Amino acid sequence: MDVRRRRRLLAIVVLACLVGGGVETWRLLFGQDGLLYHPRVAGGGFLVAPYVQLGDAPRAGATESLAILWQAEDRDAKWRVEARDVPGAAWREAAKPTWQRDSRQTAGPRRFYQTTIGELAPGAEFAYRVKCNDTTLFQATARARKGAGQPHRFVAFGDGGANSYEQMAIAYRTALARPDFVMVAGDLVYSKGRLSEYLDKFFPIYNSDLLGPSTGAPLLRSTPMLVAPGNHDLLERNIDVYPDALAYFLVWSMPLNGPLATAGARNTPVLNATEAHSQAFLDLAGPAYPKMANYAFDYGDAHWTVLDTNLYTDWNDPTLRAWLEADLAAAQDAPWRFVAFHQPPFHSSISHGDEQQTRILAEILEKYRVDIVFSGHIHNYQRSYPLRFVPQRGPDGRPIEKLGRVNGRWTLDTLFDGKTRTRPDGVIYLVTGAGGARLYDSHQNGNNASLQEFTARFVSNTHSLTVVDVDATTLTVRQITATGEEVDRFVVTRDK
Ligand SMILES: [Fe+2]
Repeated sequence: MDVRRRRRLLAIVVLACLVGGGVETWRLLFGQDGLLYHPRVAGGGFLVAPYVQLGDAPRAGATESLAILWQAEDRDAKWRVEARDVPGAAWREAAKPTWQRDSRQTAGPRRFYQTTIGELAPGAEFAYRVKCNDTTLFQATARARKGAGQPHRFVAFGDGGANSYEQMAIAYRTALARPDFVMVAGDLVYSKGRLSEYLDKFFPIYNSDLLGPSTGAPLLRSTPMLVAPGNHDLLERNIDVYPDALAYFLVWSMPLNGPLATAGARNTPVLNATEAHSQAFLDLAGPAYPKMANYAFDYGDAHWTVLDTNLYTDWNDPTLRAWLEADLAAAQDAPWRFVAFHQPPFHSSISHGDEQQTRILAEILEKYRVDIVFSGHIHNYQRSYPLRFVPQRGPDGRPIEKLGRVNGRWTLDTLFDGKTRTRPDGVIYLVTGAGGARLYDSHQNGNNASLQEFTARFVSNTHSLTVVDVDATTLTVRQITATGEEVDRFVVTRDK
């Protein structure tokens, strides 16, 4: 091809990219430095490619930091991470990476590496690169956490890690939405929360080198993911039989400000293993276990509280309730309060219909003016009317639980429509569990007679994700399918 024809072709490609709404695509592909979005400039070295995490940084600051994690072979090497805030600027070196050896055999010997890039301006995009023995193996761009007054976007979904095409399509749609962070409402990997399952069904899809509906997206290297623990993440605790179970506490680096710090204490996912195996796990997990099962953090104009609602955790426990109340009470000045936990308190699916024990949290969530609760567990999309709930109590004052259901009386704000009436009276409960695993109760789609009266919108015939735009006065919430269609949209407003 001669030079003129080649230039003409390039011009057509650039024009098509720009005209076809392609600016976002262009940025996805080429990023801040005009380099490929996910250049792996030299091969090899990684067992899990680098990904970004919020780290133990619950509060926004005048300067921000992000953790970079990766896994590599168990052999000595000189690893370094460098960052730069502006294209063309000199690279600055991040803190020396720390590492831990995982010599357990199920997922293969490896080292978990981690470092932190600090001195970042809130909301600023930056580039980072990971070097091994002075060779750059990996480079990507990421964005520091946004602070108060900086509008942001997040994506939420749950129940993704099933290694399905739908999981890949949801990952792809998530990347196209260009969120500032992603919240996963539990059941990260099926079916036992093992490291080997993360290696098979999680990292290759959410940190894929290729962006596409049948591959996934290079998401984790640029976008922090924060997660809530689901039943499939923490219920398998026999690490004699499954030594790489409970990988939740190994692969994530999130705030360590939860209420439960003591291994083996009640309300924690207690290990079921011999002393030697337990100790090996405890050494590897460090303070993350069991503390990181619950945590809270700020992002932009919102405060988030993330809870472990698996059945070993009794949310009637006064200590736990006091922690939740204190956390939400301290966040009353935040324009928005969001809560995420896996098992939804209010849902209309026939599947798991009796599992609504998290209703015992409703009074606290209402008292402290939580705006939206994000859950998964049920593999479809459901939105409640804004609601208030008074549980029926037994003689001992505790809510009556029968087969996991908490009975009581709800008051619904059925006037809220999210379009012309945008001030909800009560908490909105979203089930966004259609992130990739097999859908639940497709037959209920369109069958309104089968729904509970608190359900305002129910979509069970397609996989989907929740895209939320947040500023100081307005939330715009959209539910988007794996093929990009909008199946729900509502707006919530508040006074300045
Ligand atoms: Fe679940």
